Amino acid sequence: MVVEEPSIVAGASYAARLVRAGGGFSTSSTAPLMIGQVQLVHVPTPHNARHDILARKDEILALANAQSRSLIHLGGGARDVEVHFFPSSPMGAMLIVHVVIDCRDAMGANAINSMCEAVAPLLEEISGGRAYLRILSNLSDRRLARVRAVVPTEALARDGLSGDEVAEGIMWAYSFAAVDPYRATTHNKGILNGIDPVIVATGNDWRAIEAGAHAYAARSGQYSSLSVWERDAQGNLVGTLEMPLAVGIVGGATKVHPAAQTALKLLGVQSANELAEICVCAGLASNLAAMRALATEGIQRGHMGLHARQIALAAGAAGAMVDEVARRMVAERNIKPARAEEILAEIHG
Ligand code: MEV
Repeated sequence: MVVEEPSIVAGASYAARLVRAGGGFSTSSTAPLMIGQVQLVHVPTPHNARHDILARKDEILALANAQSRSLIHLGGGARDVEVHFFPSSPMGAMLIVHVVIDCRDAMGANAINSMCEAVAPLLEEISGGRAYLRILSNLSDRRLARVRAVVPTEALARDGLSGDEVAEGIMWAYSFAAVDPYRATTHNKGILNGIDPVIVATGNDWRAIEAGAHAYAARSGQYSSLSVWERDAQGNLVGTLEMPLAVGIVGGATKVHPAAQTALKLLGVQSANELAEICVCAGLASNLAAMRALATEGIQRGHMGLHARQIALAAGAAGAMVDEVARRMVAERNIKPARAEEILAEIHG
């Protein structure tokens, strides 16, 4: 996980242990379908054009598929064509053609954009309009990854609080995010805290993931929590998360960056879908860790211990000294570079 906030890694690890007590994460995912968009304007008869475009779908798909040998080689390719009509916009009516593309183990951005550019002249010819934008959509809502986690109530007991009390607090935390966009934004940031570091470590496009996640969170028209938490008949906490995850394991930085290659090797993933499923596990774990902390002791306690270690390291502590300096600063509630230096000086006599 590549991220500047050490508590994210600690939190996700802690939550993963809680989930292990309930049998671990279970995951699934859709086919890796992405959407490329071609914008057609000044179309004289939009409904008629829609009809003609759909009637010539096979020709459009063949032209798209002639563009990307690598995607076809992977077993992917353009699969479908859809047409959306917007009768009004600030500039007037437009017809938006979606090319649905199976990206297999590639993230697919380059192939999708090439395909959109390639089919645009044909779409202009069929529709009698003019093509402007030809680009993938980052709202990859046909390329979803899902995860479920069950946490036995007893596993949540900590610091004098019963498992049931902690579970109740977590349910209130989730409920807050379910109804309030101000909270949902931060709650979803906590989910992405687990996902982005895996995306960065494997050389994938974290901005695409962020954009898709937030748009998906607003798909009902009201921005809400990406995860859902419930309690089952036994009182266990059951969390589910479904979200777009456009990742690849071939091409781009994933292929050439040695650190990304090593991260993929460590994960042992065989497909982009498998990587996407690992990402949602990390996301749900991060979400659980954040809610547990927020609903109990607050987020700062865990943060401060790790923050103190960073301050100790920056002050020059090494080896066992790091923990010793951090421990003393936390106990004194004085976590500052100057104090770290003083403690180090005292230790070294
Ligand atoms: C901080 O990086 C993430 C949290 O704000 C997430 C949340 O509030 O759920 C703790």
